[in-house]
Amino acid sequence: MNIILKNIKQLIGITENSDTIKRGTAQGEVTKLDNAYLVIRNHRIEGFGPMSECPELNLDSHDCTGRLVLPTYVDSHTHMIFAESRSGEMNQRLHGKTYQEIAEAGGGILNSAAKLRAMSEQQLYDDAQERIGNAIKQGTGALEIKSGYGLTIEDEMKMLRVIRILKQLSPTPIKATFLGAHALPAEFKNNKDVYIHLVCNEMLPRIAGEGLADYIDIFCETGYFSLDDLKHVIEAGDKHGLKAKVHVNQFSSFGAVKMACEMGALSVDHLEVMQDEDYTALSSSSTIATALPLCSLFLDIPYTPARQLIDKNIPLAIASDFNPGSAPSSNLNLAFGLACSQMKLTPEEAFNALTYNAAFAMEVQDEVGSIQVGKKANLIITKPAHGLEDIPYWFGDSMIGSVVI
Ligand code: NIG
Ligand code: FE
Repeated sequence: MNIILKNIKQLIGITENSDTIKRGTAQGEVTKLDNAYLVIRNHRIEGFGPMSECPELNLDSHDCTGRLVLPTYVDSHTHMIFAESRSGEMNQRLHGKTYQEIAEAGGGILNSAAKLRAMSEQQLYDDAQERIGNAIKQGTGALEIKSGYGLTIEDEMKMLRVIRILKQLSPTPIKATFLGAHALPAEFKNNKDVYIHLVCNEMLPRIAGEGLADYIDIFCETGYFSLDDLKHVIEAGDKHGLKAKVHVNQFSSFGAVKMACEMGALSVDHLEVMQDEDYTALSSSSTIATALPLCSLFLDIPYTPARQLIDKNIPLAIASDFNPGSAPSSNLNLAFGLACSQMKLTPEEAFNALTYNAAFAMEVQDEVGSIQVGKKANLIITKPAHGLEDIPYWFGDSMIGSVVI
């Protein structure tokens, strides 16, 4: 695509380089330019500046009067591949069952796994493609996708092969994460160590051997996988060159953040329940904290204390966690609204968490996440707006006018 955007009311999220993640006061710093132009050539940002310096180019032009232009969101944590809705479980929760109780009774992740195992790769691909199209319409321009609903070697590989095809055919950058340790399959009840051994020593070597995953993940939580399991999985990932992005502290805090940070995890995700030692571990590491406010909203659990994380100089990303059990939404505009109204972030802090920092949380910061010469021209053009704050302000409606990918 070659085009020039003109009369942009405000160009938001400009960077000169993407060398360092934003933390502390920098988390709230966003460079903006009023009355701007932006040139897109060969799908990349070729240049931008004030309209007073707009070059005469032989390109189609698009008038953005009254509108903001910003980089698309980066969704660094999704479970975009799944079999079908679990809306029935929402009804169960409304009748008093908890998320954990439903899982213990064979629902939850195991319910999704049973359904996914019966599905063809083609069907999984078609469904995922539609979901990605929907996410793009809502402003997402890069995403990470996890396995974790197969829980057998064949079915985990099936999910990861679907992600590989999506990577090849999707217009957005995609990263794949192997989440074999998502829940203990019924076949391994009372045999957790055997299953973890299978994940680390049989599934992972084959998956890594075929280049099917970029990262490794585990759901480290009471009733799921332990600190020991976390250690084994991260070590196994290391052996095969896969960094860890892990589910920790969703319902309880028992040392997983510290262990993941010390073992060099790229990100620790969820963090709804935090103790002092968790902040301390994050403060002295380079691990990125990822909050998932749509999960908090849907399960009615605490929001990640993002304000404290930023105030303690910890880099924050925000992602959707899109999945059929705890966050059936890929709407990062809504996550933006919740980040401000519930997690008390400024629009600028939330914006950096959803774009620039989230790009670091899936290592695509050289490609997307800000308005920078040379990066992919994955852009949101808003409806007419006053400023960035209009997006979280209209939290139930989309301020997105159009999305350029
Ligand atoms: O991130 N917490 C673990 N995994 C998902 C939920 C998976 C599911 O319920 O299907 C999450 O919330
Ligand atoms: Fe998740």
